[in-house]
Amino acid sequence: MKKVTISADLDVYDTENELPQDVQDLMKEAIAAREKSYSPYSKFRVGAAILLEGGEVVTGSNQENASYPAGLCAERTAIFYAGAKYPEKKILKMALSARSENHPVEVPTPPCGSCRQAIAEYEVKQEQPIEIYFMGEKGKVVKANSISDLLPLIFDSSYL
Ligand code: THU
Repeated sequence: MKKVTISADLDVYDTENELPQDVQDLMKEAIAAREKSYSPYSKFRVGAAILLEGGEVVTGSNQENASYPAGLCAERTAIFYAGAKYPEKKILKMALSARSENHPVEVPTPPCGSCRQAIAEYEVKQEQPIEIYFMGEKGKVVKANSISDLLPLIFDSSYL
């Protein structure tokens, strides 16, 4: 038996004002998308903005359903749209912001496990990492250089 240690380097910005200008702009798009969230059940609004090569930005927000599991997270709404509309364009960066209508969200809100798996698929597809920046409604912003820093031991097609 031997032990294997898995670690990741994440960057933590104290506020969004410390982000590079292009990421600040992308985060603003995520925040605007967040306000278009359809989340009458959880009252938890999430916005995602994706920067594609060539400069296009694709946004998405969580879309809930009275049949709860039929809803979809912001990250997958956005990344599936990017994959559907711009299948040949690489995804460079993704910005995420969340807020609740019930309480302040001041801690960075990471993508859920299913969204991490979906993002991983596109990284594998494009053979290039995707930078992911996530925050709550204010406060710190966390940057991951690749989804593999948030989802080690990714399950991909090589196991099939
Ligand atoms: N949600 C997202 O949009 N992204 C995540 O990564 C976590 C959760 C949404 C799903 C649901 O509409 C609400 O937040 C509460 O879970």
